[in-house]
Amino acid sequence: MWTTVLTVAASLASLPGVEAFNNPAGVDIWCGKAYRSSNTSFNPGGWFEQPSYSSTPLLDLKVRPRMSIYLESDTTGSLLVDTAVSHLTGDPLPILPSTAADSKQPIHLTIDILTSNGTSVASITNNTLTLDTTNNDIPLPFDSLHLTPQRTPYTITTTVSLPNTTTTFTTSTDLYYLPQRTDGGSATRIDHLHGGLSYLRGEDTTWTPIFPFTYYVQWSLYWDTSPATLSTFSSMGYNVIHIVPTGSLSDTPFPWANFTPYLDLADTSNLHLQYDVLWEPSNLTEMIDQVTHIHTHPSLLLYYTGDEPDGKSDPLNSTLIAYNTLKELDPYHPVSLALNCRDFYYEEYAAGADIILSDVYPIATNTSWSTVYETPCNATYGCCGCDDCTGEFADISDRIEEFRAFDQIIGWEKTHWGAPQAFGNETFWTRYPTSEEEVVMVLLSVNHGAMGIVMWDFPSSTGIEEVTGELSRVIGGDAEVVEFLVGGERAAVKAGSGVDVAVWVDGGKALVSVVCLEYDGVEGDVVVEVPGNGTVKEVVKALWGSSEWEVTGGKLVKQGLSGLEVDVFVVEVV
Ligand SMILES: *[C@@H]1O[C@H](CO)[C@@H](O)[C@H](O)[C@H]1NC(C)=O
Ligand SMILES: *[C@@H]1O[C@H](CO)[C@@H](O)[C@H](O)[C@H]1NC(C)=O
Ligand SMILES: *[C@@H]1O[C@H](CO)[C@@H](O)[C@H](O)[C@H]1NC(C)=O
Ligand SMILES: *[C@@H]1O[C@H](CO)[C@@H](O)[C@H](O)[C@H]1NC(C)=O
Ligand SMILES: *[C@@H]1O[C@H](CO)[C@@H](O)[C@H](O)[C@H]1NC(C)=O
Ligand SMILES: *[C@@H]1O[C@H](CO)[C@@H](O)[C@H](O)[C@H]1NC(C)=O
Ligand SMILES: *[C@@H]1O[C@H](CO)[C@@H](O)[C@H](O)[C@H]1NC(C)=O
Ligand SMILES: *[C@@H]1O[C@H](CO)[C@@H](O)[C@H](O)[C@H]1NC(C)=O
Ligand SMILES: *[C@@H]1O[C@H](CO)[C@@H](O)[C@H](O)[C@H]1NC(C)=O
Ligand SMILES: *[C@@H]1O[C@H](CO)[C@@H](O)[C@H](O)[C@H]1NC(C)=O
Repeated sequence: MWTTVLTVAASLASLPGVEAFNNPAGVDIWCGKAYRSSNTSFNPGGWFEQPSYSSTPLLDLKVRPRMSIYLESDTTGSLLVDTAVSHLTGDPLPILPSTAADSKQPIHLTIDILTSNGTSVASITNNTLTLDTTNNDIPLPFDSLHLTPQRTPYTITTTVSLPNTTTTFTTSTDLYYLPQRTDGGSATRIDHLHGGLSYLRGEDTTWTPIFPFTYYVQWSLYWDTSPATLSTFSSMGYNVIHIVPTGSLSDTPFPWANFTPYLDLADTSNLHLQYDVLWEPSNLTEMIDQVTHIHTHPSLLLYYTGDEPDGKSDPLNSTLIAYNTLKELDPYHPVSLALNCRDFYYEEYAAGADIILSDVYPIATNTSWSTVYETPCNATYGCCGCDDCTGEFADISDRIEEFRAFDQIIGWEKTHWGAPQAFGNETFWTRYPTSEEEVVMVLLSVNHGAMGIVMWDFPSSTGIEEVTGELSRVIGGDAEVVEFLVGGERAAVKAGSGVDVAVWVDGGKALVSVVCLEYDGVEGDVVVEVPGNGTVKEVVKALWGSSEWEVTGGKLVKQGLSGLEVDVFVVEVV
């Protein structure tokens, strides 16, 4: 993705019809900002607006299907309902839940399932939840609801009322209840509880969880030599391929004859595709052609549309237009895109995907002075290769947390993936990350809820390729770890400055990931407590890094961490 930047930016002014929308004529921009020394700073706009504080408590009612799609073979599903009380988003509550007793107030729901023409086909009445609770699960027994599987979504309308008041609240969401595939194709869904992915193929009816762990791989620099590259890549441990359509793959017409052997081999190697659909904001012909060819492939996991549409200032409605077109062509697969900017029309661009990859590249770069354009970089000016970054690992986790905070306000479901830096010695970056830095960036993303990892890019350095190959067997390849990441409840755990810890609890076990962000290490005892006052009994499986963690008084303790140490292990909890 980064390598496209310079050429795109340079060509913006000269391509008729490919004008960005917010810049003075003749001013090249990235993330909306002027970046050439010949141009001056202007306000790029597009900053996310925080709602103002409401002194009246608001009901932030959110209803969404637990799974992004259901198939005919799923006998039951469910809705996730939040009845949170907020001071930022929602509609005013008639009564103030000022005391704890008040906030235990009941709330009644009526749920109607409608076809796209507005005809009601089923209702679920008489549900009572408690005000100010999240992730309530309301079953959808498809058989007794008599829903007919269909390719277009049903509309779910939820009406909520509080006892002894006449005020009601209403919200709508889409429910996909799709026909079983009979064409050999696959289906992939997102579990909205934690954002994890699972898939099934052909006539299968059992969903398999997957934690995608892979690279953006350049067609012209790697695959193009022979289909055998695919077997080699797969044997390194990666479970997904993302082919970057460079070289002949960007030709029109697309060279299907050369390409198809790779797709066929992917099917037999259990390699899943994050498929770049050759999206052009101003012309969807090529994208539609790609989807028409690929949509029944058993290996298809998801589509990928926009490569940094925010950086390029693609038209604000363009990602959503592509998304809607894709959903009509193929409702069985999620859509992803990569965002490069920290805060430039997030809501508009992210509207065009279910999964947002953030490509934050903080290693070996100067984030306040552009070494390529010889200008300062700040909130309104300059391009330093890592938008509004500080040049620290925390840029990566801050970005995911900020995007998630935006999501919370917008009120939609998005899944976030990481796109860690696995390149360097070019443009803004003086060197490649080291193997240790690479592992830190990957686990830091995962600790903050990234549900997939696609590093930019492959081929990388020998050291990075070696270490990510080993890591792929843990993060994407160890079934127990995948269970934790996809199905476990993640919690950030404080363990002192310079240490980033996450714990996933699932039944009587927990997965612990400890990342030391300091190059010089951390001295003194590092203590990790399992959330919810869980008592650690013992370390049962060391997966990565040091196994020198001890259990003292139900807590995990280690004497200091070495520079950039990363430890991942499973513990038994009582
Ligand atoms: C911006 O810089 C370009 C050269 O890179 C120059 O042609 C153009 O006139 C400048 N525009 C403004 C508004 O300064
Ligand atoms: C609405 O759609 C349903 C099924 O999709 C169909 O049975 C019904 O006739 C339609 N109603 C109208 C008014 O078009
Ligand atoms: C609502 O549910 C309660 C208990 O769950 C039951 O006693 C009551 O009869 C139900 N009311 C209706 C209208 O179905
Ligand atoms: C609603 O009104 C009834 C009867 O007036 C009363 O018994 C009940 O406590 C009220 N419920 C709430 C939640 O205020
Ligand atoms: C859109 O793209 C297709 C395929 O590349 C091309 O044949 C067609 O001429 C393009 N349409 C326009 C309006 O540019
Ligand atoms: C998308 O935005 C462009 C302006 O950038 C506008 O011309 C076009 O009509 C919009 N398309 C739709 C479908 O809203
Ligand atoms: C970034 O570049 C500026 C200007 O050359 C320099 O003063 C500063 O020390 C550099 N920062 C880093 C982290 O290299
Ligand atoms: C960013 O830097 C430019 C150039 O030095 C300056 O004109 C502008 O005021 C700065 N913007 C902010 C928000 O500091
Ligand atoms: C860095 O890039 C330059 C220019 O492409 C190349 O000559 C050099 O060998 C590279 N260095 C390393 C360490 O990869
Ligand atoms: C943990 O224990 C403390 C003190 O025993 C208690 O106040 C707190 O509520 C407990 N937290 C949870 C999440 O159970």
